[in-house]
Amino acid sequence: MHILPTIAATRAALSTLDGRIAFVPTMGNLHAGHLSLVEKARELADHVVVSIFVNPLQFGPHEDFAAYPRTLREDCAQLEQARTDFVFAPDSAEIYPHGTAATTTVQVPELSDILCGAARPGHFSGVATVVLRLFNIIQPHYAVFGEKDFQQVLVIRRMVKDLQVPVEIISMPTLREADGLAMSSRNQYLSPAERQCAPMLAQVLHKLKQGIEQDGERDLAALEAEAAQTLQAAGFATPDYVRVRDAETLGTPDPARPEWVVLAAARLGKARLIDNLRIHLPETFV
Ligand code: PAF
Repeated sequence: MHILPTIAATRAALSTLDGRIAFVPTMGNLHAGHLSLVEKARELADHVVVSIFVNPLQFGPHEDFAAYPRTLREDCAQLEQARTDFVFAPDSAEIYPHGTAATTTVQVPELSDILCGAARPGHFSGVATVVLRLFNIIQPHYAVFGEKDFQQVLVIRRMVKDLQVPVEIISMPTLREADGLAMSSRNQYLSPAERQCAPMLAQVLHKLKQGIEQDGERDLAALEAEAAQTLQAAGFATPDYVRVRDAETLGTPDPARPEWVVLAAARLGKARLIDNLRIHLPETFV
């Protein structure tokens, strides 16, 4: 496995390759969820490239950029085990040579302004900007993302389509701990008591999904409000959102389009947790 700190070294190494490249962008601090993306990349292509870069542009001024766990050595050991070929691990000056304030950015309107985008202004522009930059550096045939960041995947798909980026976006299901908590690097911010409470996020989403799919519930606003109240009663702060949306557009769900998703984001102590579940509308839902 080659660890490449610069764009020049990465381009030089990748330009000599024959065959297809699959790419997994990460911010490091890898867990089994990331490794499942690497495994998928391995299946898809001849060469696997993983990037590790904690992207300052996608963090708000009062967010956890400084505290975000940086574990390059351990990450590289795990990636080597997972048969990664190349790790691109640049520093910030390599990606943003003029600094983050003066950099060219990518905006994906509408999709970026709702849900997590409303709670974290500028976040998805930061994500789209770095991901496009990484795509231009790596020039992969495939890029693999986790569906825990459901809105992120839609933003990236839209960017790739609008800007005609020649890469196929693959998304993979969320990996969960035994108690249902979605795996996330931010779970380590939880105290032992908060960690006990955290699976409640997945539980309220399951209940809401079941209400729609199996019990024929129709009042989505009531379901969303009940889920938010349950989270607060369990110790979460007022959720940023709990919403049922169309799974393709994140717009208001329409019974004529049966693929929905329920998404939620809420703070528990220092951690902001997000999760989502797909909902397949039964044919009887009218
Ligand atoms: O999902 C993440 O870890 C990040 O948002 C990404 C896609 C690596 C961009 O920094």
